[in-house]
Amino acid sequence: MTILKISSFAAVVLIIAACHSKKKATTESAPAPVAKSTTGIFAPGEEELTAIKIKFPDATLPALTEGHSIYTGVCTNCHGAKSIYRISEDRWPAIIDNMASRSKLTVSQKDALTKYVFAIKGTQPK
Ligand code: HEC
Repeated sequence: MTILKISSFAAVVLIIAACHSKKKATTESAPAPVAKSTTGIFAPGEEELTAIKIKFPDATLPALTEGHSIYTGVCTNCHGAKSIYRISEDRWPAIIDNMASRSKLTVSQKDALTKYVFAIKGTQPK
């Protein structure tokens, strides 16, 4: 007579890993860069100037700054400041032509505005 004794054997292994939450080391990876804006409407700086000089080598920071103040000034007479990021580079020239004439911009104001818009497009986060 065979008595088959089946014994279930349960091994419970408990691993207690104590979470030693170490204080964040200062050498940890740098924080992700903070987006300057979600619309691209912000005062341009050196980064935007460097980007636009590829397209317009004669661009200057004062011109970009003038473009920004036109964008947030006369360009908001009929509607809010439209997101620069939302419109593709291809579509911008025709829109600028149309809106510059609606705003009665001078040739030099239109030039400053164009450089500002394309400087912003040139640094748009992917
Ligand atoms: C005389 C009024 C007026 C002025 C000034 C004006 N706009 Fe407009 N703009 C309009 C109208 C009307 C539309 C079409 C309706 C809308 O989108 O609000 C429009 C639409 C737009 C659009 C959206 C185009 C699209 O296809 O999505 C952009 C971008 C824009 N304007 C930019 C500008 C900029 C930049 C300036 C300054 C140079 C400017 N606007 C000045 C009246 C104006």
